[in-house]
Amino acid sequence: MSVKNKVDELKARKGLFVVLDGGEGVGKSTNSEFIQQYLTSQSIDFISTREPGGTPFAEKIRQLVLSESDESINALSELLLIFAARAQHLNQKISPALLAGQWVLCDRFTDATYAYQGSGRGIDTSLISECENLVQGQLRPDLTIILDAPLSVTRKRLDERESLDRMEKESLDFHERVASAYRERALASPETYALIDASQPLGNVQADIKKVLDDVIKKWREPSDRL
Ligand SMILES: Nc1ncnc2c1ncn2[C@@H]1O[C@H](COP(=O)(O)OP(=O)(O)O)[C@@H](O)[C@H]1O
Ligand SMILES: [Mg+2]
Repeated sequence: MSVKNKVDELKARKGLFVVLDGGEGVGKSTNSEFIQQYLTSQSIDFISTREPGGTPFAEKIRQLVLSESDESINALSELLLIFAARAQHLNQKISPALLAGQWVLCDRFTDATYAYQGSGRGIDTSLISECENLVQGQLRPDLTIILDAPLSVTRKRLDERESLDRMEKESLDFHERVASAYRERALASPETYALIDASQPLGNVQADIKKVLDDVIKKWREPSDRL
């Protein structure tokens, strides 16, 4: 059975789909602000969004997935909830924006599913890939920036958080597996991924991000040499 998605129409899109991903405390929210300022300074029309969530209904699913539960949550149930949220987010928000020519900047996307539900929870990559194809069709981000830092650094940054969610409370071993999965995925596809050392001072991280964005913006502005 094939499900008709807005994502099927996306071949004609003009805006770029940029994802910022990585483990907790690597600096996604902080650097999302920086990227938004930079895109604005470049007169690029964009929307900024996040996963899981991004629409009111998908944010309800986010609540379900991230809040504490008395009942232990089955990994497959968690996976399907995340892809249910993603289907909603893509069809209601991401695809329409891309079709309208806007860029989309998303805090986390399907790499997080491979990292958390795949490496973290132990779900087979092939099953995640099937869900990805079902929900996203051909759509993949044009650029994924993976922020990478040792847990010794990110755990200290998280110390300032008032409360930790269901994923943040997972074991160090879980988070090591998550961080390795992000690194491996970034290194496996250097043409669409940038792996950035997020343990550096913020100014250096942002200089690295700016370099990556400048490269992508330059290509995007050359009509004959689109990504
Ligand atoms: N390169 C950096 N150096 C030092 N502190 C940082 C850096 N990047 C982010 N932080 C701080 O670390 C904390 C977590 O950052 P945040 O952007 O919320 O991470 P994430 O959204 O990836 O969980 C925040 O207090 C932020 O100010
Ligand atoms: Mg954040």
